[in-house]
Amino acid sequence: MCAVLFLDINFYSMDTVQVKIIIGSTRENRFADSAGAWIADELSKQEGVHTEVLDLRDYPMPFFDSPVSASRKSEPFAHEAVARFTQKIAEADAYVLVTPEYNRSTSGVLKNALDWVYQEWNEKPVTFVSYGAVGGARAVEQLRLMAIELQMAPIREAIHFAASDYFPVAMGGAPKEELFAKYAQSAESAITQLLRWTRGLKKMRE
Ligand code: FNR
Repeated sequence: MCAVLFLDINFYSMDTVQVKIIIGSTRENRFADSAGAWIADELSKQEGVHTEVLDLRDYPMPFFDSPVSASRKSEPFAHEAVARFTQKIAEADAYVLVTPEYNRSTSGVLKNALDWVYQEWNEKPVTFVSYGAVGGARAVEQLRLMAIELQMAPIREAIHFAASDYFPVAMGGAPKEELFAKYAQSAESAITQLLRWTRGLKKMRE
């Protein structure tokens, strides 16, 4: 009986995937943290998924100043926040990047975070939560290109809060719960696809 129980626990932990949600805005009054908490909650409803929100406010990495690119880095790292962030990225099997759109791109703080890490992103899938005038699509398209260079697998499905739904919340204080409820189906599609890629690529890496 004990042996059976032990095997079950082992099987479950082998099967659990780690998804890290990265909050791509650090500004005061940001929306990114609300969107990040929501998608983490949606992911947590899935069996065998462990989520963690990585708030870039907690990882105050300097503007990239390393003499070599992150693909050629070696320990010990010069910056404590970079070391902690790299460790978190290494733990993950998949990522959700929560991105604002600033001047038709992602935020500088998120781009900088991507630049600091390399091998730890490789061969893992990523999806996106974005918002803005055109649903943050221009930021996400640029992130997809960056993800390719980082040897990640950017999946097709993502969550884009349309301007007509998002701006009343951001600017007018409309309840965000209604916004999130409206995008539950979009979240489900993105999560389903992300987890298929996550489990497939995890097997491949092993
Ligand atoms: C913006 N915003 C914005 N929106 C958009 O759809 N396209 C854009 O190019 C820009 N550019 C832009 C630049 C800068 C510097 C700021 C601060 C804002 C508006 C932006 O989408 C909105 O403020 C979001 O709420 C920003 O996300 P966070 O920081 O609240 O998560």
